[in-house]
Amino acid sequence: MIASPPRIGGLDIQSWGSPDDPVVLMIGPAERSSPDGRDLARALAEAGRHVLLTDLPDKDGAAALRRLLTDISSRPAVLCAQAALDSVIPALAVTGPALASCLIVVGDGPVSLQTTTALDGLPILTVEPGQGGEALDRLNAAVLGFLEREAPREAVLYQAGSDARTLRDALGCFGTGVTVVTTLDADGQPIGLTANSFSSVSLDPPLILFCLSCGSTNLERFQAARHFAINVLHIGQQPMSGVFARSDADRFQDVTWETWDTGAPILSGSLASFECATDRVIEAGDHLIFIGRVLRARFEPRRDPLLYFRGKYRRLHFA
Ligand SMILES: Cc1cc2nc3c(=O)[nH]c(=O)nc-3n(C[C@H](O)[C@H](O)[C@H](O)COP(=O)(O)O)c2cc1C
Repeated sequence: MIASPPRIGGLDIQSWGSPDDPVVLMIGPAERSSPDGRDLARALAEAGRHVLLTDLPDKDGAAALRRLLTDISSRPAVLCAQAALDSVIPALAVTGPALASCLIVVGDGPVSLQTTTALDGLPILTVEPGQGGEALDRLNAAVLGFLEREAPREAVLYQAGSDARTLRDALGCFGTGVTVVTTLDADGQPIGLTANSFSSVSLDPPLILFCLSCGSTNLERFQAARHFAINVLHIGQQPMSGVFARSDADRFQDVTWETWDTGAPILSGSLASFECATDRVIEAGDHLIFIGRVLRARFEPRRDPLLYFRGKYRRLHFA
């Protein structure tokens, strides 16, 4: 999201992402106004970069950029359109290695030898502007890959005893699908919750697992049921994932479901459903691991999965 601009070095700045992240300074009206520029800014912010966007004045642009670079607290990666090089090169020729970590030029032609000589030692990437989905993906991937090499983010460390939030963030680096795990309680009432701790375990015998928090209001009912179903959600079922994760929701109100052999609710239209007999339940810290023997499975071969990564829902994305 674009925050309202502070002024740095006398220039209006718009920013994306967290101020704690390494800075990418995007220069030029094209970056700010074009959808491609905004898409790149968003991708950079999502990849853990603090994006600052600004226009340089027509007159004395180089001096303005030099002031700006001096006022930014960390060494930014500078990203500009080829058209802005007239201001950027003189500014970086003096301050480059000291005040910028690298330069990314978005343009159709190669950057001249004169430029690379003037910016002696500064890593430079030239990329073609992206237009349309795939070209834009390629542009974003090239820029992000270059930044990881030339201006890497510091890795975050977790050690036993560190706070649980850091461990959670580390675990969130593993992208998963999303499921709704269901069962039928002793009164014949359907119960279920959103879970991404689903994993395959064994093909022969056919075993899968999910982990249930000991804080779950449904803990005893899942233990007593001796069966459950795993419903893997497709991209269109994100609202359902939200409903089954909320404690105040009437979770089955707007859901169509059927039963097979055990009674565990099979949610209609899911990407895949696995009906399981509970094989064993293992206590593990603040969760119970439910291992299930797959009795029956049904899947839809054409739809895309709902994904979950770093605490956010995602969709499949082919670069
Ligand atoms: C994407 C996502 C994945 C989740 N994965 C799990 C999980 O694997 N195990 C779990 O116990 N809770 C998980 N939760 C949290 C539960 O869905 C949530 O706490 C729910 O309210 C629990 O309901 P209950 O207390 O009625 O069982 C997840 C939530 C979300 C949004």
